[in-house]
Amino acid sequence: MNKKRIKIAIQKSGRLADHSYDLLKKCGLIVSRNKGQLIGYAENMPFDLLFVRDDDIPSLVKDNLTDLGIVGLNVVLEKQFEYANSTQKELFSIEEYLDFGQCRLSFAYPEVSDIQSLSQLKNKKVATSYPFIVGDYLERESLDVEIVKLSGALELAPSLGSADAICDLVSSGRTLRAHNLNEGESILEITAVVIRSGDTSDPFKQKWIRKLLERINGVLQVRESKYVMMHAPRNSIDRITELIPGAESPTIIPLEGTDETVALHVVCKEDVFWETLENLKQEGASSILVVPVEKMLV
Ligand code: PRP
Ligand code: ZN
Repeated sequence: MNKKRIKIAIQKSGRLADHSYDLLKKCGLIVSRNKGQLIGYAENMPFDLLFVRDDDIPSLVKDNLTDLGIVGLNVVLEKQFEYANSTQKELFSIEEYLDFGQCRLSFAYPEVSDIQSLSQLKNKKVATSYPFIVGDYLERESLDVEIVKLSGALELAPSLGSADAICDLVSSGRTLRAHNLNEGESILEITAVVIRSGDTSDPFKQKWIRKLLERINGVLQVRESKYVMMHAPRNSIDRITELIPGAESPTIIPLEGTDETVALHVVCKEDVFWETLENLKQEGASSILVVPVEKMLV
């Protein structure tokens, strides 16, 4: 394989798979990939996509088999702990926190159990796929709880009798409810992140990775951003700008035939709600337009 291609590992299937692929396409990558193929090639930029199991992504990046990876913070932190406890050095960095893959790592207790909180879990067992993260948390809280490491079907552990509680990812909470488990203490908020190998010093790779990270940044900003246009009384410009959430300094354009009213254009880095428009109107704004932003490079 051509060495001068940057490899990005993303989840093959699961919660992050579609979001990760879409993000890269929004960054301008045109990817050719046959169905079922585990590698895709960008036709217009020197990037190859590898479709793999999420749990394998940190190791691939650490071992420099891929340059970048998109994976949940849970998987990243667990691996970082694992590497820190061994002699292996941490050989990747977190470059960007993304706006998808949100969930939390929480303890959960069987509805029928007397144990419904961490303090009651003393000298009992908790099943988890994240023994390092959970172990670190329990240690910091000085709680003596035995960790049972399981890689799947955690939800069944209490009813099978192998643990008194579990500590697992919760998103909508559906999985817990379906297994008659109550969500308890959350110990970590999670999103997807971009990780980068410690060995990307090749100038060609550096250049393209920088370009991609900038575009990812742009995509993230654009998702929230709106372009707001209105007519506004000249003497209300300050008050009006204050009303718009996350507004940068506005562009003021004179209007033909009047000195009192101007056109005010502003990029707003948050969503704009009806209440805001109503407040703007109260300050004398009219003809208010809110339009989505297609692309942004700052
Ligand atoms: C997580 C977790 C639960 C489910 C919770 O699995 O292990 O099974 O999501 O989501 P819910 O609260 O919306 O029901 P995930 O899809 O991340 O798979 P993985 O842990 O095997 O990667
Ligand atoms: Zn997984």
